Amino acid sequence: AISQKVDALLKKMTLAEKIGQLMQYNDQGSSAPTAADAEGALAANPETRDHVDAYELARKGQLGSMLNVIGAEKTRRFQEAAMHSRLGIPILFGADVIHGYRTIYPVPLGLSASWDPQLVQDVSHMAAVEATTAGVKWFYSPMVDISRDARWGRSTEGAGEDAYLGSAMARAYIRGYQGSDLSKPESVAASVKHFAAYGAAEAGREYNTTDMSDIRLRQVYLPPYKAAVDAGAATMMSSFNALNGVPATADPYLMDEILRKEWGFDGFVVSDYTAVMELTHHGIALDAASATRKALDAGVEVDMMSHFYDTQIPRLLKQGKLSMATVDEAVRRVLRVKFALGLFEHPYARGTEEVTQAVAAHRPLARRAAEESFVLLKNGGDGVAPVLPLAADVKKVALIGPLADSAGEMQGAWGGAQHQPDVVTVRGGLEARMKQRGGELLYARGTDIDGDSEAGFAEARRAAERADVVVMALGESSSMSGEAGSRAHLDLPGNQQKLLETIAATGKPVVLLVFSGRPLVLDWAATHVSAIMAVWFPGTEAGSAVASTLFGDVSPSGKLTMSFPRAVGQEPLYYNQFPTGRPAGDADLSKPPAGDTRFVSRYIDVPNSALYPFGYGLSYTTFAYSGVHLSRKAVPLAMANRADAHDLVTVSATVKNTGRREATEVAQLYVRNLGASVEQPVRSLKGFTRVTLKPGQSKQLTFQLGFPELSFWNVRSRQVIEPTHYTVWVGGSSLATAQADFDVTP
Ligand code: IFM
Repeated sequence: AISQKVDALLKKMTLAEKIGQLMQYNDQGSSAPTAADAEGALAANPETRDHVDAYELARKGQLGSMLNVIGAEKTRRFQEAAMHSRLGIPILFGADVIHGYRTIYPVPLGLSASWDPQLVQDVSHMAAVEATTAGVKWFYSPMVDISRDARWGRSTEGAGEDAYLGSAMARAYIRGYQGSDLSKPESVAASVKHFAAYGAAEAGREYNTTDMSDIRLRQVYLPPYKAAVDAGAATMMSSFNALNGVPATADPYLMDEILRKEWGFDGFVVSDYTAVMELTHHGIALDAASATRKALDAGVEVDMMSHFYDTQIPRLLKQGKLSMATVDEAVRRVLRVKFALGLFEHPYARGTEEVTQAVAAHRPLARRAAEESFVLLKNGGDGVAPVLPLAADVKKVALIGPLADSAGEMQGAWGGAQHQPDVVTVRGGLEARMKQRGGELLYARGTDIDGDSEAGFAEARRAAERADVVVMALGESSSMSGEAGSRAHLDLPGNQQKLLETIAATGKPVVLLVFSGRPLVLDWAATHVSAIMAVWFPGTEAGSAVASTLFGDVSPSGKLTMSFPRAVGQEPLYYNQFPTGRPAGDADLSKPPAGDTRFVSRYIDVPNSALYPFGYGLSYTTFAYSGVHLSRKAVPLAMANRADAHDLVTVSATVKNTGRREATEVAQLYVRNLGASVEQPVRSLKGFTRVTLKPGQSKQLTFQLGFPELSFWNVRSRQVIEPTHYTVWVGGSSLATAQADFDVTP
């Protein structure tokens, strides 16, 4: 039915109206660029310098979509103009809602540390409910780019380094945004980004090129995009980077062969911001016309902000360099999504008011999301008793650091509609808690996030000296990660390390809260402070979640989804590395250390292993794993090597809470495959589940392994299973040791 409506509408459209559906502007439209232009890129292109008035285009029915128009009043104004145009085709309002609209929950990297797809689905739905009240019906999210290099600032926007976990999270976001029915008023269309392999930017430098084998592309980078498409993602966004020499925004291999032909994607693709124009910068297009042709031919239907499609399509059609069929097909794809969204029936913001009241109702979920995202990296150890949860006799807490009382910095990248007054700061959260306990919170900022003044050190030291325990809130500012947030250093910025050392020298127990959008290098802290917890950017409920976790209302259950390096020189660093001919032991999780030999694959000045590896995270209790059993020890190849084989081996194992309090554990299953025609990683995540256990309680876990988990991509770009030997581990991190083996037999 939708396709008939689309065709009927298409027949009535003029060329200008068709092209309009392929254009996207913000409320500024496009004007002669200045040095301050948001992404600076238009400056080099005189062809784009005529001014575009977005409102005027909307009025003429020549503006298909808009980006980052925030607020019901604003979207309504543009929508009214569009709805009163000749054909009344509604504008689709898109926005960078990546971790909440008004109620902000943790940045996606933090959220992924929950290993809780249901939570991700729930918070995503919450964001959709809020944003649709302001007329936003399209999110530029989820970002499913795999990131193995912590230098890359956009690591904060994704689910980390692993394809299996990333795929689970991708599906959860799509379900949360789009619901079971895209046409419901509170559903939004997702834009899965950035297609493809943007996260592999060389040296972690933003917008940099990527180059990789087809095996790596398909095995590591593509699965989360594919998972999102299989879950029904309505749109995709092409990425800025070139992949193997072809800028993704003009890559028919990615967008036509893989996305459309192999995966059967029937939504539309939007370019990233001015990415069509940037094809000229990449040097594969000499002018606006060829950039337009290349992007359209490759499969980018919507031009975000380049102002190229509108100026070039008529010209290209006239010259016979572009077919009307290509334009019509692009318009069809856009209209299909608009009809599927029910935009023609309810084009306006759901509510008449902004989403002011939603925050109160949504706080509990935002708080739980923050609590689940926290990863306890250290808690005592080496003969020192755990300092967390804070004991009942802790009466004076010193809270020190530039992130302790900063509402603005609790948010992380993106989140235009956040209201700072909604935010519970760490200071606010702890102050309320200390009051309840009849205790006292001493606060000192100590230093700036990125400054070098030590003027606040003395006051901070005095506060520490008066306290039973010191909580230090250190880390990055929100803007140090996210787009264009690459860093060459991964330590605490400014002189925060010096402040940390100054406070640790008082001898007081120090609990370090690390705020960051990426893994940081915490090697000094790892051996000098009592406890460390990664809290990412927790969002609106930051302070309450920190308080409830420090005081033990909840036990931390988060596990890392990106490895924390010992030194920045280890990057890119990820657990599922390939073996080498000369393993150095700790480079290869399945082999014993190589001893004193020099000629092994390692650094001479730092171990290969992560300081805190993928999957790692402590709890206030302890868990033990035992008895890994397999339903089969031999699987015949003929049974295994079929895409629809889903339950080839059932793995069972027991997890027991061996500590003294109830807590939740993320149990993980890893697989290694030896003897295949192409090298396989030393281990790969192939299953996980969250399990809550009382003290002394055990539970039997089961995981199914089928073709999706056991197959790999071969040199002919085929997904296969070969007769090989498999090892399976079950445990609480990528260092899991409880194991069992089976074979796929010829
Ligand atoms: O959605 C974003 C994208 O991730 C990076 N460039 C700008 C887009 C729109 O704001």
